[in-house]
Parts: sequence; structure tokens; C-alpha cells
Amino acid sequence: MSANRFQTPATIKPHGSIQAIQQQSYQGIDDLQLTTRPVPKLNPLAVRIETRYTPVMPYDILTETGQLQQIRPVKLPMVLGYGFGGIVREVGRLRQPSLLNQPVIGIQPSGSHQEQLLSTLPPLLFRVPQDVSLAAATTLIGGADAAYFAFKKSRLQPGDTVLITGASGSVGTYLIQLAHLFGVHTVAVGHTSRHDLLARLGAEQVIDYDRPLIDQANSLTTVTQVIDLAGATTLLDRLTPYLGPVRIWSLAQPHYRPRPQQVFTFISGAIMPKDYQWLLRQLAQQKLTAVIQEQHPFTAVKTAQHHLLDQHSAGRILLTYHQEVR
Ligand SMILES: NC(=O)c1ccc[n+]([C@@H]2O[C@H](COP(=O)([O-])OP(=O)(O)OC[C@H]3O[C@@H](n4cnc5c(N)ncnc54)[C@H](OP(=O)(O)O)[C@@H]3O)[C@@H](O)[C@H]2O)c1
Repeated sequence: MSANRFQTPATIKPHGSIQAIQQQSYQGIDDLQLTTRPVPKLNPLAVRIETRYTPVMPYDILTETGQLQQIRPVKLPMVLGYGFGGIVREVGRLRQPSLLNQPVIGIQPSGSHQEQLLSTLPPLLFRVPQDVSLAAATTLIGGADAAYFAFKKSRLQPGDTVLITGASGSVGTYLIQLAHLFGVHTVAVGHTSRHDLLARLGAEQVIDYDRPLIDQANSLTTVTQVIDLAGATTLLDRLTPYLGPVRIWSLAQPHYRPRPQQVFTFISGAIMPKDYQWLLRQLAQQKLTAVIQEQHPFTAVKTAQHHLLDQHSAGRILLTYHQEVR
């Protein structure tokens, strides 16, 4: 067993209990704990979901290391995680009975990295169409939703060109596809090893951030806006001298001092339930594709999070909970 795996085997658990990934300090990845909790009790407003997948997100790591304490104070210990994909196994009497046994994705603000959860907010739960895999649908949470939010906020128009930093990550791989879908050209910035992936997703130009920019700067003359998903000041410092009077939107860093005639805006926000339905339809119609980098059993969350930090990203890393039956 790898040093990063929890020592407690997932199979050893008392009757009527579930396992959850718990943050107990701000010491980061290696201080996470696998804990056993009672099965949550159903109430009339809730549906009980058997978790199948949860996305491993930078948000988890920022929370674990205390970097979000100013904007999101939390009480420890707490269950970690934001999004989930699962199967509805029980429905409270005030919720739609037709949800029973349906595959769903959703947002669980109180923590999603657990074997079962109670979802009590109907606008944060979405049925997954039959022809979309649950793993693919789960990547919408914290990935395509953020990409769609940023895309709408930028008001990019067909024929514009957007430069995307952090393009190979879980948000970026959707943002390239959304831009392509709406007739917006993309210049994607990523690691050399992700060049083929970025081109396959629809990027017209790819910039390798690990090579000198002077050799690749021709493609930058057409850029009308920048969406920053890398959050690296040094990368923006290298890129901005080659850009004209662009607007830079960032989901990843709150502050940046742009060059004269360039405007920097930090953005953060949510999309509407109807937007999630639209994204699910795009997956069903194969107009969008989920890029899944790796899947790990939830007991290996430490390994998964270390990979998120240490490996060059290629879409989303997922934690898995049970065998998928669909
Ligand atoms: N505010 C919101 O509502 C919201 C919502 C979702 C996400 N976010 C933020 O958006 C950002 C992207 O999220 P994500 O889930 O897509 O993360 P991710 O999958 O980890 O992707 C991050 C990307 O940034 C690149 N990157 C990081 N440091 C870099 C550097 N110094 N130079 C060049 N590239 C660098 C990575 O490239 P390599 O893999 O090659 O290192 C990777 O492609 C994160 O900061 C996340 O917290 C914000």
C-alpha cells in the first residue's frame, strides 16, 4: 500500500456507517483522515445518494491549507469535497419520487467526499441523461460550470480570439470546447506534453509555457481577451508584453497588475440550473467531451491530490466509490 493511501481498508466499517474524507487541520494533503460516520438520516426534504464519483479540485487543496479562510471560514473537522455523481437510493416525502434510482450529479456545500450523502437543495441536483456516463457528468461540477461562467462573463463573440492559460486543466479543457462551439478562436497555453490534447479539443494555436515565448508570439497579435486559469503571475508577466489592449479575466488569482491599456478582473460565481441542463445536453449530443485524467478509489485521496499538484494536468481527476452499474 502506498504511503499516501489511508491505512484503514474501506471494507472494514461498522454496520450502518459510511466512510468520509475529513479535514481536521490546515496542514494540507497529508493530514487528511478517513473517518467513519453514521449513515445520514433521511428527512422529508432530502434525497439519499450513493456516491459513485467526486471531483478532486484545487478548491479542496486551497481549503485544506487554509488559503480560503478569509472568504470561506470553515469549522473543523469537516468533510471535504464540493461536487458528486451518484445514484439516488431514497427520496424524502417532499421530493420527487421519480428521482429514485436515477443517476444524478450535484453540489454538496457541506462536503461531498463520502460514501453516501443527503442532498437537500433541489436546485443543486441534476438528473443525468441515459446516454451520458456518470463519470463524464461529474466532471461538469467545478469544471464545465466554471468554464461556462467565465465564457459568459467575458461576452466573447464569434470571430474573437481568446487566450487561455491553464488550458489543460479541468476548467480549461471545457473552456476550449465551449469557445469552439460558439465560433471563438482559442490560443491555449499549456505544457508541451499536453499540446496534442489541446489541439484535439479545438485550440487553433497552442503555446508551450515551457519554451521561450518570443518564438511563439506571432499567434498573440490576434488575441482580444485572456481567461486566466493558471493563476501564475510570472506566466502573465511573460505573456502580456506580446498582447495588445486586452481584457484579462481570472478565475485563479484575485490580484494582478496588468500593463497600461490592459484591464484585469478577478471573477468568481455560479451558473444557473438551466445552464447545467444545457451542459448535460451538450455531453449527450457529444458536442462537449469530458476529459478525465485519472480515477482513484476514494481511500487514495492523498495520492489523487498529490497528482493534481505534481503532474501536468489533462482534465479532471476523479475519486471513485462503488462499481458503476450503468
Ligand atoms: N472562482 C471560481 O468560481 C472557480 C471555479 C473553478 C475553478 N477555479 C479556479 O480556476 C483555476 C483552474 O481550475 P482547474 O480545476 O482547471 O485546475 P487544474 O485542473 O489544476 O488546472 C490548472 C492549470 O493551470 C496550469 N498552471 C498552474 N500553474 C502554472 C504555471 N505556473 N505556469 C503555467 N501553467 C500553470 C496547469 O498546468 P500544468 O498542469 O501543466 O502544471 C493546469 O493546466 C484554479 O485556480 C481554480 O481554483 C475558480
